Amino acid sequence: MEKKNYKRTLVTTALPYANGPVHIGHLAGVYVPADIYTRYLRLKGEDVVMIGGSDEHGVPITIKAQKEGVTPQDIVDRYHNIIKDSMAGLGISFDVYGRTTSATHRVTASEFFKKLYDNGEFIEKTSQQFYDEEADQWLADRYIMGTCPHCGNERAYGDQCEACGRDLNATDLINPHSTITGNVPVLRETKHWYMPLDKWEPRLRQWILEEHKEWKTNVYGQCKSWLDGGLQPRAVTRDLNWGIPVPIEGAEGKVLYVWFDAPIGYISNTKDLLPDTWEKYWKDPETRIIHFIGKDNIVFHCLIFPAMLMAEGTYQLPENVPANEFLNLEGDKISTSRNWAVWLHEYLEEFPGKEDVLR
Ligand code: MF3
Ligand code: ZN
Repeated sequence: MEKKNYKRTLVTTALPYANGPVHIGHLAGVYVPADIYTRYLRLKGEDVVMIGGSDEHGVPITIKAQKEGVTPQDIVDRYHNIIKDSMAGLGISFDVYGRTTSATHRVTASEFFKKLYDNGEFIEKTSQQFYDEEADQWLADRYIMGTCPHCGNERAYGDQCEACGRDLNATDLINPHSTITGNVPVLRETKHWYMPLDKWEPRLRQWILEEHKEWKTNVYGQCKSWLDGGLQPRAVTRDLNWGIPVPIEGAEGKVLYVWFDAPIGYISNTKDLLPDTWEKYWKDPETRIIHFIGKDNIVFHCLIFPAMLMAEGTYQLPENVPANEFLNLEGDKISTSRNWAVWLHEYLEEFPGKEDVLR
């Protein structure tokens, strides 16, 4: 329940993947609501910081780079700047807009992983994972698609089904196929580190289902159904060559799972903004932390990242996680891949001076 007398507020906004420009769906669902809330607190004279930035790791970036025949670094450099400029053009008043390829972030995410590792918070497990022999590549996350075992969506990814929102392990998929070649993958043995979410389930249940009945019904309801279904251990490392190297011995060629490093980006960007005082925004119980996100991010912000924070032990959990539904365009789902969107950088060029009209 919302406690009274918070001394300060930390507002975070989902870090968009730097694999393309942002559109009005992002703006309506996350950035305008967060901006209105932050500006309101500033007007009241409260201590508030608004954190943003680009999410520059993960398979969404490498898929885009492979499509264009350029490096992942080229992709994130290009889209980080386009996104940053269009957010500024729309008057989204971030106190910092960072990036997860920054040096601060590499150190922060590595140390976070190392602390959990040293404290014995991970399960180390060798198992069979999907491999595409023709592409000669491991198939993590969006490199593999199949049918969701929970809702039957035929286009679920190896790490999440966007139709029902659930997190998945790739080997849960029914009829898996490679998104690189379309081939049916083979299984090969590999070692990874897992967060035992089942261990944190009782605390997550208590925290959300008992202490945060006031959360938006879409957020609370999804959390309740996942918790009632039972949580499974979840790999937080990947066999990929783009990302933050797993900072332990015997993990050569492996990187942190993008959804392990990205939310830590909120912390890294706060450090860059406030090198001397960042900790009180994250660790003092008198700070109110609010995560503004899209609906496909709920599982990561309500279950996985909080479990990471609980395991780390020195951080505060969010007071609220407002997630919005998706915006439709002329009745049809906005889609980057089908180019069905109003892109912010194009709007700003075509309608100069009309930023508030769109907001
Ligand atoms: N990049 C993700 C997306 O676009 C959001 C990441 S939010 C953060 O869906 F927590 F990871 F930062
Ligand atoms: Zn599903």
